[in-house]
Order: sequence, then structure tokens, then C-alpha cells
Amino acid sequence: MIMLPSAYSTIRRCLLIGSIFVGCSADGPGPVQTTVHESDSTWGIIQTEIFAGQCVSCHTAGTSFGRQSGLILTPDIAYEQLVGAAPTNAAAAADGLMRVSDLGQGMPGLLKSYLWEKINAPDQQHFYGDHPYYGELMPFGSKPLTNGELAFIRTWIEAGAPETGHVADPDLLKDESRYEVPEFKPLAKPENGVQLHLPPFEVQPNTEREIFVVHPLNNEDDVFLERVQIFMKSGSHHFLLYTFQDDIPAERMPEPYEYRDLHNGDGQYVLSTILTQFYHLPISGSQWPFFDVSLPPGVAIRLPKNTLLDLNSHYINRTSQPVTGEVYTNLHFADPAAVEHEARLFSLNNLDISLPAGEVTTIERDFTFSERTHVVQLVSHAHQLMAEFRVEMIGGAHDGELIYVAYDWEHPPILRFDSPLVLEPGEGFRLEATYDNTTDEEVNFGLLSTDEMMILFGISYRD
Ligand code: HEC
Repeated sequence: MIMLPSAYSTIRRCLLIGSIFVGCSADGPGPVQTTVHESDSTWGIIQTEIFAGQCVSCHTAGTSFGRQSGLILTPDIAYEQLVGAAPTNAAAAADGLMRVSDLGQGMPGLLKSYLWEKINAPDQQHFYGDHPYYGELMPFGSKPLTNGELAFIRTWIEAGAPETGHVADPDLLKDESRYEVPEFKPLAKPENGVQLHLPPFEVQPNTEREIFVVHPLNNEDDVFLERVQIFMKSGSHHFLLYTFQDDIPAERMPEPYEYRDLHNGDGQYVLSTILTQFYHLPISGSQWPFFDVSLPPGVAIRLPKNTLLDLNSHYINRTSQPVTGEVYTNLHFADPAAVEHEARLFSLNNLDISLPAGEVTTIERDFTFSERTHVVQLVSHAHQLMAEFRVEMIGGAHDGELIYVAYDWEHPPILRFDSPLVLEPGEGFRLEATYDNTTDEEVNFGLLSTDEMMILFGISYRD
């Protein structure tokens, strides 16, 4: 799950001293050619505290690992080897990634950085599931980096990966916890809430299976959702939880507990499953096998009585044996008296889409809010011709700032704001979606996967 890029962390003078000198000339006395790297910078600390001990032994010129990876991380050239440099890995290069993106601050930097994919162990289901040709997670053959080291590197990338200056708080490195793959087991039931269970289902060898199942909550009164836990058996690609828009026609509403596949046995889309999908409102979801997220204190989503939820699970089986999918989800409800802000799901939807055949088209649409709005979550929605979906702020101090970006129409990141994003009246979002219409027909707004869409879904509350 992608979080809002943290703003430049408070700059703290770091106590690490000393420079690393490389490249002495062998010609006896006289001026010695040196490359000086201050460790008194975020980039310097990454090298001395992380790369030196855990990466450089392999990523050194003249070693077989250095040759195989084509990546040298010794201090003399590590920066130019990473920032703005194309990966050796062909799949990552074909996906348009750089080792570390030089696209500047924020999400594009992170999403376009192969280094981040290679070290982000907590997201390893996504790494191995979506990117079977990206090689191994790094550091190769040893424990993942600590969560503190990951947060430190990530903050640096999100700040535009500068060579000098402090952009990440060295205190982050104090978090020495490390990602461990949890063993799948049923979640303990919530004290105040419900547990939903997707019972075991089979995924055949070398196939993917994406299913939807409606679960009625059977709640006699409105309830307030404040926390969601998800635990998936390994092999899962993602799990998403939806409710339905009020205007869903009765004939589109599926029967409870019936497993609806997205693809039939021949890999073709199942039309009825797709048609129901267009009335979804996303509430929560994860690509990590274990996920536990709460809304900010006092904020909860009202689920009206007799809410119907749609559970969506996607498994990828790249082995030659069948695997079994299974998911537990806990919905924790707030005490209604403790709810200060009722959060709502919203959708900003542009229906005016026309994409000429064989052309790349960018559509821009502005949406502003008439009342002060606190946004806690955003996720985009488009179909298969989408190449990029960007969201910028309109108005206020952050006018024009990019806050969200997605490159993958099937798996757009869900952006959560740890402290809500506050929009004053008249402020809002500019949606900018780029589509590459590779077909020989014009494509317009529509419900099929061969039509297009341009929606920003969110969760927000008002004062
Ligand atoms: C035991 C040796 C070893 C260690 C330790 C190691 N790597 Fe690697 N690294 C490799 C090999 C081999 C490859 C090429 C195969 C692959 O990509 O899986 C590679 C590939 C990479 C790549 C992709 C290069 C490209 O352009 O395709 C990155 C990025 C990377 N390593 C970063 C790191 C970082 C960061 C660390 C330390 C946290 C690290 N590695 C530790 C052996 C190692």
C-alpha cells in the first residue's frame, strides 16, 4: 500500500562524520585525485549505514555479482549508477523503470524506481506475483532490510533522491523491526465487529483466478467501520472490499455467497461479473498478505443497515500444482457515540471521454469541493488503455502539486493519508488521465473493459 509521500522530514544535523576517499593515484607524492562523499547527507547515510554493510560486497566492480547485476554500489559511482540510470533487468527496463527515478518528488519517483521494487520486502507478494521477471529481492540471500532502513530509503526517493542535503530523519533508522512472512491462520474475531471468511477455493496450475463474493452484513442498525484487518493465504495478488452504489439495478445485484469468476475457463472476461463491477465503491484493500489499517481517531464510515459487501480476491498460481486461496477479513466497528466525523465514499467521475484511434490522448478534468473536506483515502479507476492517471491539487498552498499517480490500470495504488488532506471550499483535484488507444477504433466512456473510464474514488469527511 502506498502512503502519502511524507513531506521533507525535519532536518536534523547528523552526527556521522568522516568522508570516504576513493581512487588514489599510484604515482607517488603529489596531488591525489580523490572523490569525497560527505556522509552528512541522506544519500551519504544510505551509503555508509546500509549499502556499505549489506550491498557493496556483491555490487563491486570485477565481481561476478557486479557483472551479473551490472550495478556497482561503491561510493565513487553509486549515485550515477542509480539515479536516472536504466536497469540491467530487461523486464524492469521495458516497464519504463529507472534504478532510481529522477522524475522528482512524490509518488512517480517511488513507483518508477526499480531499487524500491527490489528491496521492498513487505510487498513481496506483489513483487513475485506481478513481476516474475524482476529477479530476486535484495539483499540477495539475506534478511530483508529493516523497516527503518526501508522508510529511510523510501523517504529519500520520494524527496527526489538528492545527492546532497538532508531529506530523511536519521531517527527512522532506529526502527530495527523487519518484515517476516506471517504464517496464515484465522484472525481472532473482533470484539466489536464481524469476521468475513472466503472459504478455501482452488486455483489451477499456471493460472490466475479472480473472484467476487457478496457477503450480506445482516446489520439491523447502521454501523461505523473504523478498522479493517485482512489476512490472505499465500499466493494472493490482492484483496478488495467494496460496497455498491445506490443506483445499482436489481438485475445486476449478485446472489449472496455465490463465487463469481472474472474470467471463464478460456481466459475471457465474464460479462455479468464486469457489469456488476461498475457499481462498486471501494472501501479497503491490500496487496500485502497481512494488512491492518484504522481510520484516524474519531473517523468512521457509516455502513447503512443491511449493507451488502462484495469481497474480491485475486490469486496467481505460477506453480505446476493447484494452490488454495483463502482470506479472512475483520471489520471493526466504532462505538457510535465516539464517532465525531462520519466518513463517506465519493467518486469524481468524468463521463466525457473520446479517444481517437491509434493516438495518445490526455484528458484533464477539474473537481472542486463546495465545503471544507477532509480526505483520508484516494484510488483511481480506469480501463486497459490507461497509461497514466495523475491527480493534482487545485487551489490553496499546494496548488498544482501532484499527489497521486497510477501507472497500472488493474492495480492502482490505494493512497491513504495518515493525517487527512484538508481541502477548503473551492479547492479540489485536477484529474489528468493519459490513454494510449492502440486499437483502430475510437474509444469512449462505457462499461466494458474495452470502453474507458476516468474516476477518482475517495473517502472523506466534513467538519
Ligand atoms: C549476495 C550478493 C548480493 C547482495 C548482498 C546484494 N545484491 Fe543486489 N544483486 C545481486 C545479483 C546477483 C543481482 C542480479 C540478479 C537479480 O536482479 O536478481 C542483483 C541485482 C540488483 C539490482 C538490480 C540491478 C539491475 O539494474 O537490474 C538492484 C537494484 C540491487 N541488486 C540492489 C541491491 C541492494 C540495494 C543491496 C543491499 C541492500 C543488494 N543489492 C545486495 C546480488 C547481490
